[in-house]
Amino acid sequence: MTSHPAPSSEARVPVIALDPHGTDHHGEAARLRELGPVVRVRLPGNVMAWSVTSHALLNDMIADPRFSKDWRNWNAILRGDISDGWPLIGMVKVTNMVTSDGQEHRRLRKLVTQTFTPRRVQELRPRIEQIVSDLLDALPSHADADGSVDLRLHFAHPVPMQVICELFGVPEHERPRLRELMDNIFRSDLGPEEVTASQIEQYELLARVVENCRKHPGDDLTSALIAARDADPDSLSEEELVGTLLLMLSAGQETTLSLITNAIRALLTHPGQRALAEQGDETVWANVVEETLRWDAPIGNFPFRYPLEDVEIAGVQIPMGEAIMAPYSAVGRDAAQHGEDADRFDITREQRKHLAFSHGPHFCLGAPLARMEAALAIPAVFERYPGLSLAVDPQALIPVPSLFSNSSSTLPVRLGN
Ligand code: HEM
Repeated sequence: MTSHPAPSSEARVPVIALDPHGTDHHGEAARLRELGPVVRVRLPGNVMAWSVTSHALLNDMIADPRFSKDWRNWNAILRGDISDGWPLIGMVKVTNMVTSDGQEHRRLRKLVTQTFTPRRVQELRPRIEQIVSDLLDALPSHADADGSVDLRLHFAHPVPMQVICELFGVPEHERPRLRELMDNIFRSDLGPEEVTASQIEQYELLARVVENCRKHPGDDLTSALIAARDADPDSLSEEELVGTLLLMLSAGQETTLSLITNAIRALLTHPGQRALAEQGDETVWANVVEETLRWDAPIGNFPFRYPLEDVEIAGVQIPMGEAIMAPYSAVGRDAAQHGEDADRFDITREQRKHLAFSHGPHFCLGAPLARMEAALAIPAVFERYPGLSLAVDPQALIPVPSLFSNSSSTLPVRLGN
């Protein structure tokens, strides 16, 4: 990563403006790769960052301790250039494991992993099967006048939403508003007032969830975090407790929702691949999940890492304290890693390592749960509705207005006979 003799000056590095509406996510990702392994990106509000667009370089960078995840190391924030109404602020200025380093990161992560164990995830299987089955039963009742059903709204969204809300003891009546507020975190097209109001409301709602679990402790993970804090107040501050809840509830639904949506959309638009999947067993469906993660990564871009010293990547000098974006969907189609046909959705390809769940110390903590939810939900919808088809031209699907989330905002289908 560091052996080039004459580093480029910032002026010679190509610049690309990232679209806050996510209008052409993969077109933009292809342009990022074409421009080179290290690119300058312009974000809403004219904020500048960098993007490392090669799989191999990104893989090294995200596991390198010279790159902090703590926003307190971002020069632009320290200079006061980033206001609290900046549309991307909800993904950046938060206090939890995803924005912490080293010992602090291990402490916050361990508080969750000690109760959110592989066994606990496995125990959720029958409940997820039940949730999936109930939602599939209800689909015909959601048909519009033209007979189409929005599979994103009525299936892909409520599966992870119900699972994560039950896991963290979120009362039923708080869930509809929680869902809207979690959606807002990933949006990059909101105005400053809406951003600030949404953040205040998120924290108020989550504080109510904590209060409720304090009064009525249960077998949920919020109660477990409260118990850890009560046993040793130094192990987790109240701010970190709410911040952790915010992370788990947002990461636990938006991403998996996009994975389920993207996989169903990919199969509906690739009939040959769909036929292979429908004839296949569990391993084939697991390949559908992995190929979707690679080819259509639910987290298209993820903010930020901040070098703790001046660094050089592929001959480009990045000064200490600048922001570097991880473009997970661009590297998912990097031909150097995935072959010359990396642009093709192919569930039979020999899977090479993808970075859709990241890599290194911040590797997605929810990956086993996300994989299990997807592996149960996606085949079930094709099994229950073998005549399933898209109700609109795929080109007409409107993307989620986000430069982080990569998915479509609706998925209208016909259930068939
Ligand atoms: C398809 C679904 C998912 C995808 C694609 C995904 C993707 C990611 C990525 C890319 C990161 C690392 C970001 C970075 O630092 O660059 C991450 C971290 C994380 N994810 Fe996920 N995620 C998914 C599902 C989940 C679920 C279901 C949960 C919770 C139940 C979850 C919880 C987390 C947490 C807590 C972290 C922070 C880990 C840390 O900083 O140590 N994710 N995820």
